[in-house]
Amino acid sequence: MCGIVAYVGNQEAYPILIKGLKRLEYRGYDSAGVAIINNGQVNLYKKQGKVAELEAFAEGKDTSGHIGIGHTRWATHGVPNDKNAHPHYSGNNELAIIHNGIIENYASLKEELIKRGHDFISDTDTEVLIHLIEDIQRNTGAELDEAVRIALNEVVGAYAIVIIDKNNPRKLIAARKSSPLVIGVGIDGEYFVASDATPIVEYTKNVVYLEDEEIAIIEQGEDLKMMNIKKQEVIPYIQELEVHLEAIEKGGYEHFMLKEIYEQPTTIRNSMRGRIDVNKGIVSLGGIRDYEQKIINANRIIIVACGTSWHAGLVGEYLFEDLTRIPVEVEYASEFRYRNPIINEKDVVIAISQSGETADTLAAIKLAKEKGATIIGICNVVGSSISRETHAGSYTHAGPEIGVASTKAFTAQVTVLSLMALSIAHKKGSISESKFHELLVELDSIPNKVEKMLETDAQTVAISKRFKDARNFLYLGRGYNFPVALEGALKLKEISYIHAEGYPAAEMKHGPIALIDEEMPVVVIATKHGNYEKVVSNIEEVKARSGKIIAIITEGDTEVKAIADHYIEIPATEDALSPLLTSIPLQLLSYHIAVMRGCNVDQPRNLAKSVTVE
Ligand code: G6P
Repeated sequence: MCGIVAYVGNQEAYPILIKGLKRLEYRGYDSAGVAIINNGQVNLYKKQGKVAELEAFAEGKDTSGHIGIGHTRWATHGVPNDKNAHPHYSGNNELAIIHNGIIENYASLKEELIKRGHDFISDTDTEVLIHLIEDIQRNTGAELDEAVRIALNEVVGAYAIVIIDKNNPRKLIAARKSSPLVIGVGIDGEYFVASDATPIVEYTKNVVYLEDEEIAIIEQGEDLKMMNIKKQEVIPYIQELEVHLEAIEKGGYEHFMLKEIYEQPTTIRNSMRGRIDVNKGIVSLGGIRDYEQKIINANRIIIVACGTSWHAGLVGEYLFEDLTRIPVEVEYASEFRYRNPIINEKDVVIAISQSGETADTLAAIKLAKEKGATIIGICNVVGSSISRETHAGSYTHAGPEIGVASTKAFTAQVTVLSLMALSIAHKKGSISESKFHELLVELDSIPNKVEKMLETDAQTVAISKRFKDARNFLYLGRGYNFPVALEGALKLKEISYIHAEGYPAAEMKHGPIALIDEEMPVVVIATKHGNYEKVVSNIEEVKARSGKIIAIITEGDTEVKAIADHYIEIPATEDALSPLLTSIPLQLLSYHIAVMRGCNVDQPRNLAKSVTVE
């Protein structure tokens, strides 16, 4: 949610900022801007729209200079137009700020500042913050870093900020609370700052992750200085990045989303690497080993997440209840945190998040932790806020996911949940040794099956062509594949803007059946599992109302093949592991439909990949 990038050093700042903003565009793309100091001036350019539009606007203008800040926005306060775009100037145009987050008490601060003679150009909370800093500087004569510190003690909310000062053209001041910020320590005294490591990785692997309420004073050629907002010194902890440049580039694919769909044989394998040994009959997740007994003894497991991660959580509910016989509840983090939930020390909370930064999920686990629950994380981004807030956890190891619509992160989350449930069930003795073995062998074979499924997507392309102009879609599934139906519908909505609903197949007759006519495509997950016969009956119900059936079927199935209008075959697998396969054709279907409709697949309108505001 908003991407920020900054540079100070011997290189020209502008190309580094623009390249960085393009890498961060997945975080928001309503507007973009840069501010660069040159010859004692802060030159500021900003524009509604994507980074490319900013580039076109800045063409031919003075963008030279060795220190600068850049921003790509996902609007919170104020519509996405030129004036609300970041950076924002202070009143005297000497300071410029970029900000990711929300200043919740901005209205009262603004009122106070207006009384003191401040004029505001934009509707943003960010402009209020930079005016507050300027006001403090003016009234106290404090240095910029001290003025920033005082101001941050007055604000309520979330922030990752970087500020430049025309009187100090070798210095950046950065700070964070709840929104992520990472500093890259380059060669020859240069520094980079960004919302995540992707703009930094090609220049340096040495980074410092800022913690909440920390301020960094970043001066070219000097050692990095840090303090917290209580003015206590903080010693920077420099660590080495593990991200490689290839992982954040498209690698020949037309879109990141397509690349990420095709990466799944590898990413699922990576999620299992070192955690499963079929020959020895072992599943072991090192990160939660010390907490397994706690999970076994838990009264219940509460899974909290948002979006696609919430759908993975629903699959987790089926897995854990089925295999471990521990009661599970799955909650939207945003609802859980505000409904005064009953939680105690016997509860285990599993938080699932690709980014590890989702504000609602983070708040939900803080709340559960306060009430004494044990918190286990399943995150993709190493070192992210959620991963640091949990007692223990397992990374998904899917690698950077850039496409806004989540694909490989979902299957990686489901893989880790499968491993966790299997490991607990085995230790608890809630499944037989033979069932454990069967599932282990099957899980191990999933990457190969996914690889095989991805050899051709001709059927999906043909179906996409046929239905690309549909106005509505219905997705139906039962049991383990009910969450997959929800996820399939979400994918289509997100990137093609076609209205879609996911439903438990049998619930269809309690409402959605009224929508069915010859125009309505109905995607049914009808693989040969537990409820197969019942799903076949649901298909007949749709057919009786002239709906068009697109069925996901098990290879060799002739019954559904005969009654479906269209079908996509997938390899046979265990019911419990089937979401790892059934979700893939649904990802491809939404991808192809969106491309055929001319939609921006990687950056769908109004969405952002990392939602750091509630
Ligand atoms: C946003 C993204 C989704 C994601 C959700 C939760 O809405 O667009 O793809 O599923 O946030 O994000 P998380 O990083 O917590 O998994």
